[in-house]
Amino acid sequence: MKFSAALGFILFPVFLTDAEYTFETRYIDVPLDHFSFITNQTFALKYLVNDSFFVDNGPIFFYTGNEGDINMFAQNSGFIFDIAPDFKALIVFAEHRYYGESLPFGNLSYTSPEYLGYLSTMQALADYVYLINNLQNTYQNSSDNLTQLPVIAFGGSYGGMLAAWQKMKYPNSILGAIASSAPIWAFKNQNPCDSFYKIITEDFKNTRRQNCVNAINASWVVLREFTNNETGKSELADMWNFCDDFETDDDIDNLIEWLTEIYAALAETNYPLPNRFLGTFARQSPLKNFIYTNYTGTTECNSLESTSEQLGEEGWNFQACTEMIMPMCSKDTDMFENTEWEFDVYSDFCYKTFGVRPWNEDVPILLYGDKDLSSAHNIIFTNGLLDPWSGYGVLTNYSSDVIALIIEEGAHHSELRAAHENDPMSVIGTRAIIKDRIYNWINEYNSGAGRVSEILYLPLLGMFYNIFNNVL
Ligand SMILES: *[C@@H]1O[C@H](CO)[C@@H](O)[C@H](O)[C@H]1NC(C)=O
Ligand SMILES: *[C@@H]1O[C@H](CO)[C@@H](O)[C@H](O)[C@H]1NC(C)=O
Ligand SMILES: *[C@@H]1O[C@H](CO)[C@@H](O)[C@H](O)[C@H]1NC(C)=O
Ligand SMILES: *[C@@H]1O[C@H](CO)[C@@H](O)[C@H](O)[C@H]1NC(C)=O
Ligand SMILES: *[C@@H]1O[C@H](CO)[C@@H](O)[C@H](O)[C@H]1NC(C)=O
Ligand SMILES: *[C@@H]1O[C@H](CO)[C@@H](O)[C@H](O)[C@H]1NC(C)=O
Ligand SMILES: *[C@@H]1O[C@H](CO)[C@@H](O)[C@H](O)[C@H]1NC(C)=O
Ligand SMILES: *[C@@H]1O[C@H](CO)[C@@H](O)[C@H](O)[C@H]1NC(C)=O
Ligand SMILES: *[C@@H]1O[C@H](CO)[C@@H](O)[C@H](O)[C@H]1NC(C)=O
Repeated sequence: MKFSAALGFILFPVFLTDAEYTFETRYIDVPLDHFSFITNQTFALKYLVNDSFFVDNGPIFFYTGNEGDINMFAQNSGFIFDIAPDFKALIVFAEHRYYGESLPFGNLSYTSPEYLGYLSTMQALADYVYLINNLQNTYQNSSDNLTQLPVIAFGGSYGGMLAAWQKMKYPNSILGAIASSAPIWAFKNQNPCDSFYKIITEDFKNTRRQNCVNAINASWVVLREFTNNETGKSELADMWNFCDDFETDDDIDNLIEWLTEIYAALAETNYPLPNRFLGTFARQSPLKNFIYTNYTGTTECNSLESTSEQLGEEGWNFQACTEMIMPMCSKDTDMFENTEWEFDVYSDFCYKTFGVRPWNEDVPILLYGDKDLSSAHNIIFTNGLLDPWSGYGVLTNYSSDVIALIIEEGAHHSELRAAHENDPMSVIGTRAIIKDRIYNWINEYNSGAGRVSEILYLPLLGMFYNIFNNVL
C-alpha cells in the first residue's frame, strides 16, 4: 500500500557529534494519565539540567523534548547554551514521554495499544507543566515571595510545535516560546498537501545540478520496472546492501517511501556547514550507494525499518496515526511518485499497524485551534525557507508579540544550533532578534513582579540587524 503522510518523516535531523554539552541527568515521577482519576500510576520522566550559569532569580530555559532520546536534542541545540550565560539561565531539556528512557511501561510500552495509548501531545504538555512547576519551586529562592521564575520554552520541529502549544494551552506555565521550524499548520486543509514535496523539489533544483530533479523523477518508473519480478527484487536488495530480500510489491512501496524520506532529510539538513554526510553523498551515484545510511561506515546492511536509529520512529508513527494527522500528497509538479491523501485509507493503515484509528481528521485543529492565533502571546516562529516543513509553518507576523522570522538560507531549525563561523547573516540576525525578545519578555516580567534581574545583556545586536536588513 502506498500513500502519503507524515509517517516516518525525520522531524529532527541530527549530526552525530561527540557529546559537547554536559548535564546532570534527573528523573521526575509524573502521572501516567493527567486527564483521568482512575489510576494513580506514575512513571519516571527523564530530564537534563545544567545549572552552571544559573544565578538566583535567573530564568529557566526549558526545551520541550520531541520524538527521540533527549540527549540528541540537547547536543543539537547549542544556541540555548550560547545565550544562557548572558541570561544567567537554568538550562533544562525534558524528554518526551515514550521516547528515550521515559517509557511509562518499560519495555512493554510499545507492545500494545493499552500501554501505548498514553502517548499524546496532550499528555506530554501536561508532563511539561508538571515538571516546570517543580523546577520553579526547586530553584526559587525561598526568601523570595514573588511570582514564579520566568520560563522560556524552546523547541525545534515537533518540539517547536510543543513549545508554541505549551504557551497557547498553558499560558501561565511559561512566559514565552521559541518555536523553531514548527509546522503547526500541517493539519487538515491548513495548507496544500503537496507543499512538502514541492519545496524539496525546489531545493534539489537549486543545487545547480539540474539533472538531479529529472533523474530522481525518472527513477521511480525505472525502479518499479526493475523490480517487477522476483529476480529484479533480489538483485536490487543485493546491490543496495539490504539486510532482507525484497519479496512483495509492498516491499517496493516501502522502499520508495524509504528513499523519499532520505531525500526529505537531505533537504531538511541543508545547512551551510561542512557536512560530512551531505558532502559524501553528493559524490556518489545515489542509485549505487546510499552513503546517507552509512556515513559512519558501520551500517552492516540497510533496513527499511529505519533511516536514523536514535529517533523513535515507531512512537512518532503512532502519534501521526492518532492526533498528529498531517495530510501529504505529491503531484506532477514535484519529483516524487504521485500519491493522494485519503483519510479513510490512512485510517485503515493505522488500525492495521497499531490497532487504533484517529477519531477524525479534525482532531488536531480542534485541539490546538486553526490558523487564528489571536489569543496567543509571546511566541516566535522561525522558518528556514529551504526546509520542506516551512510549507506548514507560520510565515507572517501575526501580532506585536506573535512574530515570524524568516531565514532565507535557513534549513530545519538552523538557528537553534550553536553559532558557527559559516552561519549566514540571516541566521545570525535571527538569533539576535530572538535574544532581544527574550530579554524584553523577562525584563518586563521581572520588573512587573518587583524582582531584581541580574541580566546585563543589552538588546542592541537585534536592533542593528533590523536596521541593517531594512537598509539592504
Ligand atoms: C554546563 O555547561 C557548561 C558549558 O558547556 C559546562 O562548562 C558545565 O560543566 C556544565 N555544567 C554541568 C552541571 O554539567
Ligand atoms: C489514589 O491515591 C489516593 C491518595 O493516596 C487514594 O485515596 C486513591 O484511592 C487512589 N486512587 C486510585 C484510583 O488508586
Ligand atoms: C536568596 O535571597 C536572599 C535575599 O535576597 C539572599 O540573601 C540569598 O543570598 C539568596 N539565596 C541564594 C541561594 O541565592
Ligand atoms: C523486558 O525486560 C525484562 C527484564 O528487564 C525481561 O525479562 C522481559 O523479557 C522484557 N520483555 C520484553 C517484552 O521485551
Ligand atoms: C515572605 O513570606 C514570609 C511568610 O509570609 C515572610 O516571613 C517573609 O518576610 C516574606 N519575605 C519577603 C522577602 O517578603
Ligand atoms: C525480470 O525483469 C527484467 C527486466 O524487467 C527482465 O530483463 C528479466 O528477464 C525478468 N526475469 C524473469 C525471470 O522474468
Ligand atoms: C558501510 O561501509 C562499510 C565500510 O566501508 C562497508 O563494509 C559496509 O558494507 C557498508 N554498508 C552498507 C550498507 O553499504
Ligand atoms: C516527473 O515526471 C512526470 C512524468 O512521469 C511528469 O509528468 C512530471 O511533470 C515530472 N515532474 C517534474 C518536477 O519534472
Ligand atoms: C516580524 O517582525 C520582526 C520585527 O519585530 C521583523 O524582524 C521580521 O522580519 C518580521 N517578520 C516578517 C515575516 O515580516
